[in-house]
Amino acid sequence: MHIAKRLEKVPPYLFMTLRNKINAARAQGIDVISLAIGDPVDATPDRVVEALAAAARDPENHRYPTDEEWGMLAFREAVARWYGRRYGVALDAKKEIVALIGSKEGCHHFALAVVDEGDTVLVTDPGYPGYKPSIWFVGAEPYPVAMRAENGFLPNLSEIPSEVAKKASAFYLNYPNNPTGAVATRAFLEELVAFAKAYDIAICYDNPYSEVVFGVERLSFLSVPGAKEVGVELNSLSKPFNMTGWRIGMASGNPDIVGAIAKVKSNTDSGIFNAIQYAGIEALDHCDAFTEHMVGVYRVRRERMLAALDGLGWRFDAPKGTFYLWVPAPKGYTSASFCELLLEQCAVVSAPGAAYGVNGEGYVRFSLTVAEDRLDEALRRMTERLPKLEFD
Ligand SMILES: Cc1ncc(COP(=O)(O)O)c(C=O)c1O
Repeated sequence: MHIAKRLEKVPPYLFMTLRNKINAARAQGIDVISLAIGDPVDATPDRVVEALAAAARDPENHRYPTDEEWGMLAFREAVARWYGRRYGVALDAKKEIVALIGSKEGCHHFALAVVDEGDTVLVTDPGYPGYKPSIWFVGAEPYPVAMRAENGFLPNLSEIPSEVAKKASAFYLNYPNNPTGAVATRAFLEELVAFAKAYDIAICYDNPYSEVVFGVERLSFLSVPGAKEVGVELNSLSKPFNMTGWRIGMASGNPDIVGAIAKVKSNTDSGIFNAIQYAGIEALDHCDAFTEHMVGVYRVRRERMLAALDGLGWRFDAPKGTFYLWVPAPKGYTSASFCELLLEQCAVVSAPGAAYGVNGEGYVRFSLTVAEDRLDEALRRMTERLPKLEFD
């Protein structure tokens, strides 16, 4: 069978590979604990499930959700209220918001909407594994922009050669950052807007962890003056409301880009099941306290894990956002060989930093989306079974 050449460059999706590894080990009877994937084990709020059940019983919602091709206006109005309340951002629900099947879908459709074949697209390295395939699929080339510990894992925009910036049509980035857990500063976002304006670059600011911060301000790219002139922010109900399986999110900001994404979507996927959009309204309007409770849960897990890592000899600056910990691999290990050691000795699965880009080498990512007893068991195994670790 002929398979399109564009797929040749695309490696198997990292988390599918990890899931297969976990399933294979479980099939052998090994009690594997996964700290690899950012997929909350905790339940979606009851009232959201109830809203879905009620809406699913209404035959009106069994039809194509295409009456409003940008997503239900009522859902987009709820998004606007949420952005106003949580981030002080004013959005026009009619022109500046389109509903998405999760922000991952937005990453892909942003490229189809904004990027031409042959374009250069800036992308952070390390970076979320979904970005590069979206860029390749439209026939463009990703240009990696390094994120390093010494700069708080923020890209140094002045390092991007001006001939590259002039060629670039778009830039993908996300803070609070997956995989590093770093958060952006307002000053950096202002610099990003100025950079995008100077080089006419469309920003795809992917912000699904906007709510998961520890001791710092929740920040939307759209709260920075001029942001709406240069880009969109993708966001999602996946992480704040434990709704990864529901597939619902939004792209907001520049009306031309939002409209272009809506045009791509109306020719591609026909939108989100209306009952899920009604449930999404419930989450956005009534679940701020739930999100804050979950951030508290992550804070507790994070402190437990940081204490255990400290006991094992790790010294590093704890990130201020997301439910990930991005930790240096011990001396003598690559990111992959340390993940192998954890799997073999402790039956703990982690994500190798190198899978996020060349600048991810030397790091391992742990996710805190496991129940407390499983996290404690993973930490106990690491403390008891790992050999003495050394660090630079
Ligand atoms: C940076 C980043 N963007 C997008 C996504 C996808 O989120 P969604 O469930 O909204 O598609 C994730 C999921 O882990 C992510 O880490």
